[in-house]
Amino acid sequence: MATADMKLGYLVFEVSDLGAWERFATEILGLTVARRLDDGSLALRMDDHEQRILLTPGPADDLAALGWELASAGEVEAVAKKLTTAGFEVTPGTVEEAAERRVGGLVKYEDAGGIPSELSFGPALAKEPFRSAVVRSGFVTGNQGLGHAVISARSQDESKKFYRDVLGFRLSDHIICDLHGYKVNIAFFHANPRHHTIAFGDSQKKRIHHFMIEARSMDDVGLAFDRALRAGVRIINTLGKHPNDKMFSFYAKTPSGFQFEFGWGGREVDDATWEPTTYDHISEWGHHPPEFLAPRPKPPPTLADTDSPPPRGRN
Ligand SMILES: [Fe+2]
Repeated sequence: MATADMKLGYLVFEVSDLGAWERFATEILGLTVARRLDDGSLALRMDDHEQRILLTPGPADDLAALGWELASAGEVEAVAKKLTTAGFEVTPGTVEEAAERRVGGLVKYEDAGGIPSELSFGPALAKEPFRSAVVRSGFVTGNQGLGHAVISARSQDESKKFYRDVLGFRLSDHIICDLHGYKVNIAFFHANPRHHTIAFGDSQKKRIHHFMIEARSMDDVGLAFDRALRAGVRIINTLGKHPNDKMFSFYAKTPSGFQFEFGWGGREVDDATWEPTTYDHISEWGHHPPEFLAPRPKPPPTLADTDSPPPRGRN
């Protein structure tokens, strides 16, 4: 039986500085505040869903839950059954948890790398259309979900088996290369037309390396890059383009220390014709860490640069 499409429906982050996150999410990413909960949590919108990112207060500064969206309660039940058959513990979510995530229902489990994950159905849709003050084109979501996440894996092989054999994800490709002296080996998987929804190498310091959101216009990537520069957000990789998903994007740090990727122009996968390949480079161009760029040459000194007045002749 073919596995149903799974989409990244929502992300929950536990963050230590909600104020910094609110400014960052609204002014840099262009998301909007959907609602504030009694415990200080902040729900964010990026499309017609009532919420896509939930920020909860706490010291972890990390991913708290990876939320997968399925089409129905029946599909959630079918995937939950596959998880239990494969030996993974599945816990039903409470009514309160479903209300907090703004979904019709959910179950919880940990993936092979220990990432807290949830399967849900029936996301609540907002009454008002989404309008960002800074990302005018809006975001690519719909049947591609909210974006992608690159997560930590205890073992790439175990996580590959988990996402492919248990959840039914399909391999998109690998990138295996040497990058500034570091060995890169990342496996990319899709579960809907988005080129990849999940990717992992090996163990990371945090549960999440980065999450990606995709604007509908190239200009909105450039404008987000300018906003990040002006606000002093720590840029990790300059503008560039990946060879596998063809995403034009940049990377920078969230207030929690893990990264975000802001992109445009990602490629879609058609399973009928897709052939997984292995790339030996991570970017076609760009994506340079700013510290690896050559320092700007100093212009030659001019008279205006000298502190002392021009020498006078002796009397
Ligand atoms: Fe990415």
